[in-house]
Amino acid sequence: MTKRLYIQDVATRDGFQIEPNFIPTEDKIALIDRLSETGLAKIEVTSFTSPKAIPNLRDAEEVMRGIQRAPGVEYTVLVPNVRGCERALACEVDEINLVMSASDTHGMANLRMTPEQSLAQFRDIIEVTRGSGVFINASLSTTFGCPFEGEVPETRVRELIQRLLDIGVQGITLCDTTGMADPAQVERLCRHATTQWPDAVFTAHFHNTRGMGLANALAAMNAGIDRFDASLGGLGGCPYAPGASGNICTEDLVHMFQRMGLNTGVDLDKLLQCAASLPALVGHDVPGTVLKAGKADRRYPKPKWMDGPDR
Ligand code: COA
Ligand code: ZN
Repeated sequence: MTKRLYIQDVATRDGFQIEPNFIPTEDKIALIDRLSETGLAKIEVTSFTSPKAIPNLRDAEEVMRGIQRAPGVEYTVLVPNVRGCERALACEVDEINLVMSASDTHGMANLRMTPEQSLAQFRDIIEVTRGSGVFINASLSTTFGCPFEGEVPETRVRELIQRLLDIGVQGITLCDTTGMADPAQVERLCRHATTQWPDAVFTAHFHNTRGMGLANALAAMNAGIDRFDASLGGLGGCPYAPGASGNICTEDLVHMFQRMGLNTGVDLDKLLQCAASLPALVGHDVPGTVLKAGKADRRYPKPKWMDGPDR
């Protein structure tokens, strides 16, 4: 039995947060309900952030309460502060995905908090969630590089992981916010993480800004990571990270893993049907490639002249 890989879709959060237009609430709900039927392990439904910072997700409560939750799918939401945590708990989410940055400048630009200030918020959040049974994940933005500061030292990332685990965070997502990671760096950092903290639940979160997204996902898998964030159609990006663009595309990632004979639990055809509805929903073309090219088992009729002489 091949090892199971867990595919977590973030299109309705990472994707919709940066769209030029507001996606109507009922369309968000309908898409999530269809995604729930595809075999995804987790769906990041929305974020409980300031509606001034992220106006596209100002309907977070309505969306979270409007979806049909499918058994076996975990529903998570992005949370930056205690206020967001209280909103998320009121909607009975399965997981709270705390967000902080590994770099000071992106932390200030995105959240108006340094990593130190985010950690202080997280301590309070973990107090508030005690006894609720909700899983606490933390997403570490700019883990592999910051668009303002450049390189983020690996020692700093490791120290932040340790401190997150020390305060009671159960899962950590290593985020390449603007596609600065390369596969060698990913393999090194992920190998360290899975070896040093074997009981922590790690997720890899890549953006394909420089075309290295799937290569980075493979490098992470080779280093023992089995959970991947990805976005339907390849939507996505942080509005407060200059130059940000889409996440790795969920259907392209699932297609790659399936071709390799790996078990994702996802029904690729159903996922492709969801992806096919995206351009109309967001009003523009989307980066995903498999939907356009067809799966690798697509076959074309050979040229007519090969059928024999036509004279
Ligand atoms: N949910 C809803 N509203 C919130 C909130 C939350 N979690 N946190 C703060 N607010 C509101 C406050 O009530 C206040 O409203 P008011 O102006 O009507 O009084 C306003 O937002 C500012 O509050 P403040 O605590 O001063 O926050 P801030 O301006 O320092 O912003 C964050 C901090 C974290 C709330 C904001 O930067 C944010 O939401 N960032 C999210 C960015 C993001 O999601 N990026 C993409 C993901 S990587
Ligand atoms: Zn992201």
